[in-house]
Amino acid sequence: MKKILIIFAVFSIVILATSLLTGCYVSAKVANKSGAQLWGENCNRCHNAPAPGELNNDNWDIVGTHMQIRANLTKTDVEKITDFLKSANN
Ligand code: HEC
Repeated sequence: MKKILIIFAVFSIVILATSLLTGCYVSAKVANKSGAQLWGENCNRCHNAPAPGELNNDNWDIVGTHMQIRANLTKTDVEKITDFLKSANN
């Protein structure tokens, strides 16, 4: 009986330690996504994704703020996407 309790305790500690260590960790694969990739993955979820060059730079900034809330994206991701969408205007 004691043995089972010890095994259970060790198992719980391992699970807790792993979740604490990995819980808030964003993998490099996710963090390194390009603006183009994030645009392709997110901006056609609810409507057709707008093409780069469709709007001017000021409007892309407004759309970025608006869609960050709609799509529940991070500020960094939205900045990457708007940089990509602005790239056709330069
Ligand atoms: C969760 C759904 C959703 C996602 C994801 C989404 N949109 Fe939208 N989008 C909307 C809705 C709904 C509207 C219509 C305006 C409104 O009611 O907010 C809209 C409108 C727009 C417009 C019209 C101008 C404006 O600001 O209203 C543009 C441009 C646009 N989206 C671009 C994007 C881009 C770029 C992305 C990717 C970052 C994106 N959307 C992701 C839901 C979404």
